Amino acid sequence: MANRSQWGTRAGFILAAIGSAVGLGNIWRFPATAYENGGGAFMIPYLVALLTAGIPILIMEFTMGHKYRGSSPLTYSRINKNAEWVGWWGVIIAFVISTYYSVIIAWAISYSIFSLNLSWGPDTEAFMTEDYLQTVAAGEFGGFVPGVLIPLIIVWLVVLGVLYRGVRKGIEIANRIFIPTLVVVFLIIVIRAITLPGALEGLNAFFTPDLSAILDGQVWVAAYGQIFFSMSIAFAIMITYSSYLPKKSDLTNNAFIVGFGNSSFELLCGIGVFSVLGFMAVEQGLPVNEVVTGGVGLAFMVFPQIINQFPALNELFGFLFFASLVLAGMSSLISIIETYIAGLVDKFNLSRGKAVLFGGGLAALVSLVFATRGGLNFLDAADYFINQFGVAFIGLVEVVLMAWILRKLGDFRKHADAISDIKLGVWWTFSLSVITPIVLGYTMFDLFKTNLLKEFDTETGNYENYPDFFVTYNGWFIAGGAIMVGIILALIKWRRSSDRDDDYSEGAR
Ligand code: ALA
Repeated sequence: MANRSQWGTRAGFILAAIGSAVGLGNIWRFPATAYENGGGAFMIPYLVALLTAGIPILIMEFTMGHKYRGSSPLTYSRINKNAEWVGWWGVIIAFVISTYYSVIIAWAISYSIFSLNLSWGPDTEAFMTEDYLQTVAAGEFGGFVPGVLIPLIIVWLVVLGVLYRGVRKGIEIANRIFIPTLVVVFLIIVIRAITLPGALEGLNAFFTPDLSAILDGQVWVAAYGQIFFSMSIAFAIMITYSSYLPKKSDLTNNAFIVGFGNSSFELLCGIGVFSVLGFMAVEQGLPVNEVVTGGVGLAFMVFPQIINQFPALNELFGFLFFASLVLAGMSSLISIIETYIAGLVDKFNLSRGKAVLFGGGLAALVSLVFATRGGLNFLDAADYFINQFGVAFIGLVEVVLMAWILRKLGDFRKHADAISDIKLGVWWTFSLSVITPIVLGYTMFDLFKTNLLKEFDTETGNYENYPDFFVTYNGWFIAGGAIMVGIILALIKWRRSSDRDDDYSEGAR
């Protein structure tokens, strides 16, 4: 009877969970998403999503993983056999995310090196798209970019090496090193940022609300998507990590520490990023909104430009910034990949080594698509769609399934309360069964409606000026494909022997 792996200490679990949550989503995505969706006004949907969905779902996922002691597919199938596909759906979404997430970390490795002599030069946008990524038209591949391929191989070797060593000796140790280092480095950067001339301009732009945004359903979906992505919930991660908790674990308290820790770090990133944008706007005599571009560009095109203009120690701050992206990204990538390693181990009775080789190897192969000259376009579309139609959508399905179809919230609440200091109040059940389904359900419906009814007859499309066929095929293919593959995997027979412990039994429910 094989025993399920276990975290060595409570601090080890909390660091790993925070390591998973704090990632590119915080540094690379959050500031730009907040800015694009109404700046200060985004904070309202963001906080509503955090308090009524993020934290309650995190508590629920910690409880699910702890109670059923399995990877996401095993946990779902133990809750109800017909629900296994939802567990796989999350795993597939994690798989897709890992294929491009690894590539962004590879870029950050290259940029840590470029920063040592500011080799990106004065025109950082042309440097990224032309010199570094050698980008071709949307939809074309155009051969590998060696400058991406080599760091990408390094990312996979490090991450799969850590995963091969297992939960306690690999994941836990890596996070014990990465996370404290990240916090120190990032604090240095933020302190420098807010003391730059012009920082206040940036913070004003970040916090001044565009109130009309609050009435826009898409802004709400973006807030939920951001919360889910950033907290690593709804796509199998936290269920997997909490399945390695010992029996006596304070689930609710841990969820509060991880959830608020992540959002504090996220806010700190927003403050740091917008302070430097304010600095740059003042330097160039432009309004802040003209120096901001979304997602990918913000970190890799705008930041090098800002670093060029730093008053002193440009190379050092450039290096620290990109190194912090690498650290934050690696610790999250480890957790994203662990979802399918655990799924493969459970379902097919594989050894960890084989699961790392097959699962990780396949993801590494797929990630090569994003290391081609067309990679930037594919990556941008994949990230947009997987978040809007993948992560936010599965979050909604998960909540409705547990609250209304399988009616599990009462059981979960009893389980969490029995071992946690903070007892779950009515707010928890109400948030999950009423607020989240209504708010997220309505806004998702609105988003689907807008996208489905959109006429695809213009030359350039609805997203970042890519041709419509490109956005439609890639986006819907990825989002719809994740559900299909989830269903297919759920139809395959379990290979694990039923007595394989993992110390779960009906009695433990
Ligand atoms: N939670 C991880 C992030 O924010 C995936 O990047």
